[in-house]
Amino acid sequence: RLLSFGDSQICKYAVVTVATIGCGKTTTSLALANLFPNIIGHIQNDNIRRPVGNKLVAGALEILINRPIVILDKNDHKFIERKQIFDDFDQLNEVIPTSKLKFICLNFLRNRPQEDKDLWNITRERILERGDNHQTIKAAGKGITKAEKIIQGFIKRFQPVDPGREPDSKFDLIINLDVTSPDSSYANVKTVVDNLISFASDLNLTRPTEEQFQEAFKSALDYKPSVNKI
Ligand code: GTP
Repeated sequence: RLLSFGDSQICKYAVVTVATIGCGKTTTSLALANLFPNIIGHIQNDNIRRPVGNKLVAGALEILINRPIVILDKNDHKFIERKQIFDDFDQLNEVIPTSKLKFICLNFLRNRPQEDKDLWNITRERILERGDNHQTIKAAGKGITKAEKIIQGFIKRFQPVDPGREPDSKFDLIINLDVTSPDSSYANVKTVVDNLISFASDLNLTRPTEEQFQEAFKSALDYKPSVNKI
């Protein structure tokens, strides 16, 4: 079975987001996929009908057949969720040699989000602004209170990435991002690209121009989900 991976020396990269609601996971992921369409694939947990079991990782592995990088777009805000991702890869991956499969964490929240008033204000504002343009969180009109409760719930339960213990010690690279301004995602996209260029050096990625960054970001901001689960 290992043979179907070919003789290629390149690695495969699973990029795992760790965040709460509205941190810009989807915007950042879409911009990255726009910049490197043949290299970076993106799978959104929110687009999976009944996202139980190992469907997210199964979908990610399918994307990795044709592309070297996949972003698994999900909050993964607790240790147990991160552990599940590693376990699902262990269980489902039969093709990529373990030494060639690298895990990268997009760590949107370095500080304790429970004490971060800016995080609450920024993400709440974004979600209200997004209104009903989401697969499951509807924040227009009467939906506001429910959406606020959902955002709060994720912030309350959040367990920060801790590279000193499992499962987070299994990440080969942790990229620290910021949600400190309403427009934080643009800088985050650039931070991820620069990290990928140096860490995934086998892929020989070329740094996009400023115009390319702006173009990719603009169309990511215009995204409207096509899946509606409510
Ligand atoms: P959930 O899927 O609800 O957990 O959110 P998420 O973390 O995927 O955040 P998403 O990328 O959907 O961003 C939430 C909203 O904020 C969307 O409407 C985005 O368009 C908007 N947004 C995110 N980042 C930025 C940014 O840097 N600038 C601007 N102007 N809007 C942003």
